[in-house]
Amino acid sequence: MKILSIETSCDETAAAVVEDGREVLSSVIASQVEEHKLYGGVVPEIASRRHAEAIVPVVSSALSEAGVTMDDIDAIAVTHAPGLIGALLVGVNFAKGLSLATGKPLIPTHHLRSHIASNYISHKELKPPFMCLVVSGGHSHIVKVDDYTKMQVIGRTRDDAAGEAFDKAARTMGMPYPGGIEMDKVAELGDSSAFKFPRPVVHDAPYDFSFSGLKTSVINLIHNMEQRGEDIPKQDICASFRKAVVDLLVSNFLKAAEDYKIDKLVVAGGVSANSLLRRTLDEECSKRKLTFYKPDKSVCTDNAAMVGSQGYYEYLSGNIADLSLNAIATLPIDYR
Ligand code: KG4
Ligand code: ZN
Repeated sequence: MKILSIETSCDETAAAVVEDGREVLSSVIASQVEEHKLYGGVVPEIASRRHAEAIVPVVSSALSEAGVTMDDIDAIAVTHAPGLIGALLVGVNFAKGLSLATGKPLIPTHHLRSHIASNYISHKELKPPFMCLVVSGGHSHIVKVDDYTKMQVIGRTRDDAAGEAFDKAARTMGMPYPGGIEMDKVAELGDSSAFKFPRPVVHDAPYDFSFSGLKTSVINLIHNMEQRGEDIPKQDICASFRKAVVDLLVSNFLKAAEDYKIDKLVVAGGVSANSLLRRTLDEECSKRKLTFYKPDKSVCTDNAAMVGSQGYYEYLSGNIADLSLNAIATLPIDYR
């Protein structure tokens, strides 16, 4: 079964053709990041406008790169939630129009479920059940994935998402948006024990995260150094901050897996591209004899191939929408 998939939840206009949930025949991404960099973050109105301009050429390229036409496509999957509402609406309305015009089924796909599915593309043998750490620019969840479309959140952030914490800390040091990527590179050159940042715990919720205290502490450190006219040791700050975020993510994730007696662990979302997070999970899982899967770096951040993968399993589970489908800014991962 060939699915044409569409993703416009944030600042990437993406389309892909994916066969049977696992084979990527094409994957096209038009990123708007250079434009949003000017403002230090995503400007929703600009995002919607750029999606509207890019959607037709991006979908056309995905079809031609896969060597197919709409006649060869069996269904259309689209990210309908969660995300920036104006951005999501561009993809949803385009997919609805295409479904109406071609008579092909329309599959609503949850963005975070798709991030998890990026691992089905990278690891053809991977099947649920497993425990997944989903860490992106907008979310930080520990998800017990019982089946492709059955999952429950057992831990979540109480404030900032991990990616957001990286981006805000990086911005304070003058790094371009999205700062997480740059901070990861600079951190490789620093000493992670140079600064002591807090490791906040959420009482009575052992799998929940809180990053806002950590973020405030790095921002205060930088502002105080600037006021004293000191040079900012960016490499050591990035390395120490990255270590603190990774420690928090990994310790809760391992605890959840241990408590729920799950020995298959998976990481997903933009922050899963983080070098230290990948290394640490590789090491800790091998020490504990746990099986660990991480997506190829090419599918960690937003793309439509992962939407085509998850869309296939949504289709098999009967999740098919009619033309009343709407975009939804906030929707839990276990919504159905
Ligand atoms: O999943 P994603 O592409 O978009 C959302 O659904 O939010 O994630 C984007 C986030 C950004 O916050 C970005 O800074 C972060 O992922 N990110 C990283 C790295 N690569 C992307 N954070 C830390 N280290 C990285 N290597
Ligand atoms: Zn994402």
